[in-house]
Amino acid sequence: MTELAEYFEATIQRGDRVEPRDWMPDAYRKTLVRQIAQHAHSEIIGMQPEGAWISCAPSLRRKAILLAKVQDEAGHGLYLYSAAETLGTSRRELTDKLLAGKQKYSSIFNYPTPSYADVGTIGWLVDGAAICNQVPLCRTSFGPYGRAMIRICKEESFHQRQGYELLMTMMRGTDEQRAMVQESVNRFWWPALMMFGPPDDASPNTAQSMAWGIKRDTNDDLRQKFVDMSVPQAEALGVTLPDPDLKWNAERGSYDFGQPDWDEFWAVVKGDGPCNAERLEHRRKAHDDGAWVRGAAVAFARLEEEL
Ligand code: 3HC
Repeated sequence: MTELAEYFEATIQRGDRVEPRDWMPDAYRKTLVRQIAQHAHSEIIGMQPEGAWISCAPSLRRKAILLAKVQDEAGHGLYLYSAAETLGTSRRELTDKLLAGKQKYSSIFNYPTPSYADVGTIGWLVDGAAICNQVPLCRTSFGPYGRAMIRICKEESFHQRQGYELLMTMMRGTDEQRAMVQESVNRFWWPALMMFGPPDDASPNTAQSMAWGIKRDTNDDLRQKFVDMSVPQAEALGVTLPDPDLKWNAERGSYDFGQPDWDEFWAVVKGDGPCNAERLEHRRKAHDDGAWVRGAAVAFARLEEEL
């Protein structure tokens, strides 16, 4: 092992940060670009499901909150693309790969949001799951990624709280509003559990990512943490989680729960989810419609250089 490789291993063993200028194994760099790109793409595509409700939010207050949240997601994407660029790739390259279907984004965003209650459920469950997954990433071994997570996690907690407050308000409303919330939770509960990835014994990346300190917890451990956090919240809300196997296990000090439909998960990951084509088409159109902005920015930068 070379001196540089020894230094890298010692840095990981000490739980210290690897920085962009440090030597790192190609495979470590490749795994980071893969995960950070997917994370960034998820933030950008994730703007679509809720963004569709901005123009028809039921009040100015709800519209302002939703606008702020969706704008935050764009910023999260920016931080993460910037972290990926310190690894020698570019936002343009990653965007081109996303648009060509060569890079992934989170499966959760391939589900439709037909009901306004989905805005609350996404905040409560999807951003709640994101918090469970992202807080440990504040301690990830790659410096720029971990530092991006700190600000993202602060904003995620606002996202989760606003969603939960929206649902609590609806649950104090009419029977019809309560039914809307329950119907939305029924649709989003299992896809939210899938956000944490496949079971550990079907996860080809977890072991190595844990060894490198990129991941600090396994998929199943984070999923369990999310279930244990969500059940009391569901009880306080007054909704039923659609899992007949959900039961407190006093011996484990955690909830036992059923398994998501992993065939559905892999189908959605492979592109056959309810909204995969729509989400990518929308992103491609937004990219094409924004070509003039990129052109103007490049022309302006050239002009500045000439001045
Ligand atoms: N959606 C899409 N693909 C998924 C997935 C999901 N929910 N879970 C796993 N996969 C893919 C993996 O990317 C991998 O495929 P690849 O090797 O071609 O990239 C394959 O399935 C096997 O999964 P692994 O568990 O082996 O892969 P990872 O070790 O990368 O773990 C992960 C998957 C847990 C999602 C991990 O990548 C991770 O923690 N990523 C960072 C967090 C993130 O991306 N969160 C997405 C949501 S962001 C969000 O919710 C925004 C919020 O503001 C709403």
